Amino acid sequence: MAKPVVYITCEIPPEALSMIGEVAEIRAWTEEVAIPPETLLEKVRNIDGLLCLLSEKVNAAVFGAARRLKVVSNVAVGYDNIDIAEATRRGIPVGHTPGVLSETTADFAFALLMTAARHVARGDRYVRDGQWLVPWEPKLLIGQDIHHSTLGIVGLGRIGSEVARRARGFNMEVLYHDAIRRQELEKELGMEYVSSLFELLSRSDFVSVHTPLSKETRKLIGAAEFSAMKSTAILINTSRGPVVDQKALYQALKTGQIAGAAIDVAEVEPMPMDDPLLTLDNIIITPHIASATDATRAKMAVKAAENLVAGVTGKRLPHCVNPEVYKEGWGTPL
Ligand code: DGY
Repeated sequence: MAKPVVYITCEIPPEALSMIGEVAEIRAWTEEVAIPPETLLEKVRNIDGLLCLLSEKVNAAVFGAARRLKVVSNVAVGYDNIDIAEATRRGIPVGHTPGVLSETTADFAFALLMTAARHVARGDRYVRDGQWLVPWEPKLLIGQDIHHSTLGIVGLGRIGSEVARRARGFNMEVLYHDAIRRQELEKELGMEYVSSLFELLSRSDFVSVHTPLSKETRKLIGAAEFSAMKSTAILINTSRGPVVDQKALYQALKTGQIAGAAIDVAEVEPMPMDDPLLTLDNIIITPHIASATDATRAKMAVKAAENLVAGVTGKRLPHCVNPEVYKEGWGTPL
């Protein structure tokens, strides 16, 4: 019997590739640049499985072109690049990679928090720009203490919880806001649940955002939310750019409504070079690299391969974001 055909839009580590190669014929995009949308439309025509990245929009047009498609596997925990409603309507399971990147992403969120609080990036620029002319200046690049400050976590999922765990080591007071209260974790990590987002914002020295992007969370942090924050507060976003209203963020930083921000994600990625945020000195911007370590990226690829292999061999995906596709009787021979 002919092997199922899969299309892979990126280079993946050998372990993940050989897992897929055992069960499927692999076709792949091997260029350095992301696959253009019109090429993706062509490539998906006669495939059974698609392994893709956040940079690919797997929309209704892609599903429409991919008549044979049985599974989409995203090499990411987030899946806002995929039209899940359309996948579900067509009975196509979508896989993602939860768990394996939580600690790595939390490490990075904490790195951003520390970099912003203590002006690490500005200090580096200062030295390289030849401005370090006095051996020690008492007022140079004065930052904020991290220890014993208050951290507000918006969204206590896997990554948010790992950020809370790290905050404990710094003797921070940790508040969290989420649609779901997690009392056991609250006790374990000594956190306080705050049901009102505005209360959390008004009490926090640092606010770290960890919600997935959805209709409900788009522009969750906007002008009204910034005005509730302390003028000394720092916002950290490692979730998705559109969760924060970027125009409102610019205003809040420009007018001193908040002291700083550090973001790994943007409304438009890559961030255009004429984005006004790039004119500000009180923001740190990194290019969506919070999960970027060798070990974590390899684990993400293996998880994505497991989902893809399961999908093309007629098994349930180990990590499926739309399990409702598995209706009663699913998998029983006709
Ligand atoms: C994800 O997995 O959703 C991240 O944004 C990329 O690692």
